[in-house]
Amino acid sequence: MKVLEAIGLSKVYNPRHSWLGRSGREPGLTAIDGVSLSIAPGENAALIGESGSGKSTLARLLLGLEKPTFGRVRYRGIDYTDLRMKDMRGIRSKLQMVFQNSYAAFNPMFTVAQIIDEPLRNYDCDSVEMRTQRIREVLEQVGLAASTAHKYPHELSGGQLQRVGIGRALALRPELIVCDEPFSSLDVTIRKQMVTLLQELKDQLGLSYLFISHDLSLVQRFCDSVTVLQRGRIAERYSSVHLLKHSSHPYTRQLLAAVPIQHPAQRKTPLQVQSNHY
Ligand SMILES: Nc1ncnc2c1ncn2[C@@H]1O[C@H](COP(=O)(O)OP(=O)(O)OP(=O)(O)O)[C@@H](O)[C@H]1O
Ligand SMILES: [Mg+2]
Repeated sequence: MKVLEAIGLSKVYNPRHSWLGRSGREPGLTAIDGVSLSIAPGENAALIGESGSGKSTLARLLLGLEKPTFGRVRYRGIDYTDLRMKDMRGIRSKLQMVFQNSYAAFNPMFTVAQIIDEPLRNYDCDSVEMRTQRIREVLEQVGLAASTAHKYPHELSGGQLQRVGIGRALALRPELIVCDEPFSSLDVTIRKQMVTLLQELKDQLGLSYLFISHDLSLVQRFCDSVTVLQRGRIAERYSSVHLLKHSSHPYTRQLLAAVPIQHPAQRKTPLQVQSNHY
């Protein structure tokens, strides 16, 4: 059974009542337009697309952080589209997120232990001993020393902060983690270490990922399937990410052409610079 399924999802922002229009309603902005996709257990699904194509909006709809205007979302066959936040706590604990900028996402007054403890407290894990034990386990899983628990966000490097972000996402033992541009603020070497960490966690814990990234070289290394989003719609979907490079879709070709070349020797002429996503 699929971990996650989206069926005909649409999100229209701000369909305002018009003062002058005869129709009485302005159309609003369609950020997501009829998107259907599914993620299998253990799948590393990639979601790519230019800036503004709707990737983060789709992620929020899938996690139930926002309600779709149309369409349904299901976790292991359970439809949670219409559930209120408090009624979908069980499902939310299984679907977690790692943010692009952990520093901004964390409370600067909290220690690492408090940051990881927050979801545990919110989800009714009452025993202090069990929570302390879980924090210790999670720090070990993400490769941080136990002493990191007492540090504050400003005392950590970018890579360590993202490890805390992943640890926090792991605390409630999720099945799927959505990573929205998780490593874009990190340098290339640290990015590679983080991808290795995500892969190890997947192998240990049987996780699935939805990996949103502009870094197509990372996507091609890390992901199984790939969905290409263009102006809120699915332009293409491949069950194997390796097929992406054979795409004849002009939009996908443009995204691929924007991948930075790691070494000048790999550069083909003419040099194609299509956009500045990086
Ligand atoms: N809360 C909102 N209210 C109104 N419009 C929104 C809202 N959130 C997103 N949008 C619009 O929806 C569209 C898709 O935005 P979204 O942030 O999902 O794109 P994205 O693919 O994640 O872009 P990026 O790669 O820059 O992060 C954009 O036009 C954006 O301005
Ligand atoms: Mg985004």
